[in-house]
Amino acid sequence: MRIKVFTLFPEMLRPVLSQSILGRAIAAGLIEVDLIDIREYSADKHRNTDDYPFGGGAGMVMTAQPIVDAFAANLPEPYGGRRIYLSPRGRALNQRVVEALAKEKELALLCGHYEGVDQRALDAVIDEELSIGDYVLTGGELGALVVIDAVARLVPGVLGSDESPEDESFSTGLLEYPQYTRPADFRGQQVPGVLTGGNHADIEAWRREQSLELTLTRRPELLDAAPLTDADRAMLARLRRARQVEAQLDGIPLKRMGLQAADLFPKAWFNAFVPAENRKAAKRQCFSGRRHVGWLWQAFSMGFIPQFDEGEAARQNWREAQPAACRLYLPDDGLLFEAENSAMLTPQALSPLGHFMLADAALTCTYVETGRAGKGPYSHKV
Ligand SMILES: C[S@@+](CC[C@H](N)C(=O)[O-])C[C@H]1O[C@@H](n2cnc3c(N)ncnc32)[C@H](O)[C@@H]1O
Repeated sequence: MRIKVFTLFPEMLRPVLSQSILGRAIAAGLIEVDLIDIREYSADKHRNTDDYPFGGGAGMVMTAQPIVDAFAANLPEPYGGRRIYLSPRGRALNQRVVEALAKEKELALLCGHYEGVDQRALDAVIDEELSIGDYVLTGGELGALVVIDAVARLVPGVLGSDESPEDESFSTGLLEYPQYTRPADFRGQQVPGVLTGGNHADIEAWRREQSLELTLTRRPELLDAAPLTDADRAMLARLRRARQVEAQLDGIPLKRMGLQAADLFPKAWFNAFVPAENRKAAKRQCFSGRRHVGWLWQAFSMGFIPQFDEGEAARQNWREAQPAACRLYLPDDGLLFEAENSAMLTPQALSPLGHFMLADAALTCTYVETGRAGKGPYSHKV
């Protein structure tokens, strides 16, 4: 990849181009960056490159002559690459545009300064205007460096073999999941356990969930164009439902637990509250069987949990047994939340949820609303 930068201030770019990954890539010849000083092509006896705008107005405008002559002297005719003017009026730069630019053999980047560039120079030598964001810089040099940096990362060999551009933010159409490195315990803050557990499939699922959730929160519009699998769509539906639940329970501080933890909850609840001798039979009722849809509360209604309270007695029992913090599980949505202050999770406050289960973290006491008339609520303490 060969990049020519046309600028009045080449010294602004040089230090950045000599450092780190870009510096190494240039030294290794993987990319070639030529800095062309527009002033050297000025035909003006004082080497001027700007003048007052016709029609009045603040600031100066870069004149056409040095720019057009600099391009003519440095680019072959016809030019096989793309000639770009960095400009806040341009097409917004994003990873898709960067990917397209990385496929070009050559790029020519024109950096404006002051109030901009005489339109006739742009008409003569520029194929496209690109903006690096909706804000105004003093000059195009920082924009040119942004383009060079983003494009260079995609040139084969520029990143080391263990650094891949493929699962970065935007490359997957989504924002990237959070990253962690050693130590596993940083001043009391632990790395998410799944990352040190060694189960590759679990790690992938956790990262995907984090990516989807971050994108949903920060850049939901990206989801429209992102290539999503059926599993992604199912995850997103659960994440969106979690937001609705949080909105429904506005004012009750809840922390959503990961979808993997939510998926493990029914089994753990079942094993904690159904005595071993009843589990085989209860499993057929409480988990999807051939004849039954399968609801965990059937462990109560069908007598697989020998002693329990029902109705007002269940509410009373839960109030007495209630732990300080507790888990809230929504069986219909497959969502699990943690509440620091379980006293706020009264059956009344949770009534909009219909079918829900409460339990302490150690699974020693539980309260279940079935959302069905005449069934429950149930509670039990082991
Ligand atoms: C002060 S700006 C000129 C802004 C111009 N008067 C306008 O309102 O569009 C000077 C130069 O900075 C560069 N520049 C400023 N903001 C930019 C952005 N968001 N993206 C790319 N280049 C930018 C352009 O090369 C521009 O010619």
